[in-house]
Amino acid sequence: MNKNHIQGAGLSACLLLFSLGVSAAPTTPDPAQGKAAAGLCETCHKADGSGQNIPDGESWPRLAGLDADYLTKQMQDFKTGKRRNPSMEAFAQMLDDEKIVHISAWFASLPATTSGQPEDTESYSAEQLERGKQLATVGDWDQYVVPCSRCHGPDNLGAGTVFPAIAGQHFGYIRDQLLDWQQGHRDNDAQELMATIAARMSTEDVNAVAAWLSTQPAAAQ
Ligand code: HEC
Ligand code: HEC
Repeated sequence: MNKNHIQGAGLSACLLLFSLGVSAAPTTPDPAQGKAAAGLCETCHKADGSGQNIPDGESWPRLAGLDADYLTKQMQDFKTGKRRNPSMEAFAQMLDDEKIVHISAWFASLPATTSGQPEDTESYSAEQLERGKQLATVGDWDQYVVPCSRCHGPDNLGAGTVFPAIAGQHFGYIRDQLLDWQQGHRDNDAQELMATIAARMSTEDVNAVAAWLSTQPAAAQ
């Protein structure tokens, strides 16, 4: 290696460190800027972030009260194609990294709303809700299904930035995510924790746990 190469390598190392330093500067989350940008999201996720369950249609998840870093990760995953969904991809592409941080802070600051509508509860059988509760709170060790609460927090209200709140989330959304993991359509979770669990569940169990969780309070009582 001649002298020029060595200098060149030193220069690129400096440039690399410089650009790493710049890109690592964290954006200070500003919910007010997030609110201004969130108008784009209202049609589906609603202004209060409550989302909507459309029976037999697409289900738009509640974003209100979810952890900000979790929301940021999901939007980045949609943006880079690590998580795939035709409705979301286009919207994630419209947002730069700063906007993603601000929008996440905005939705995280909103009070969590519970999806469980009485008509939903009435259409689930008592056995189904009982089975869903079992899976969510004590698991089914015969099928190696760990209770959801083991990771998602004692009342499934979320734990830290990695494990999102699932209590009070919409029925259709919970069901679709579990089916997506079973079929390999969602695989953006680093350690494949969810794919492993979903693979052990029957369709009846998926429906049961989604039904029970959707009827639970989305915030501590
Ligand atoms: C046309 C409807 C639509 C619009 C508009 C929309 N979304 Fe979504 N969003 C969805 C759907 C559907 C999903 C569920 C995707 C899936 O099943 O993987 C979703 C999922 C998400 C998730 C993942 C939530 C979770 O719990 O993992 C985030 C975060 C999100 N959207 C943020 C936004 C933001 C921010 C905007 C506005 C910039 C927006 N969305 C606009 C339909 C929409
Ligand atoms: C071993 C830990 C673990 C257990 C047990 C677990 N999960 Fe998860 N779950 C995760 C992780 C991690 C994520 C976030 C994946 C990501 O980052 O995209 C997740 C995400 C989810 C999501 C997506 C939520 C959203 O907002 O997009 C649903 C739905 C879900 N889990 C349902 C369940 C159900 C139902 C059970 C119980 C039958 C369960 N999980 C048990 C680790 C776990």
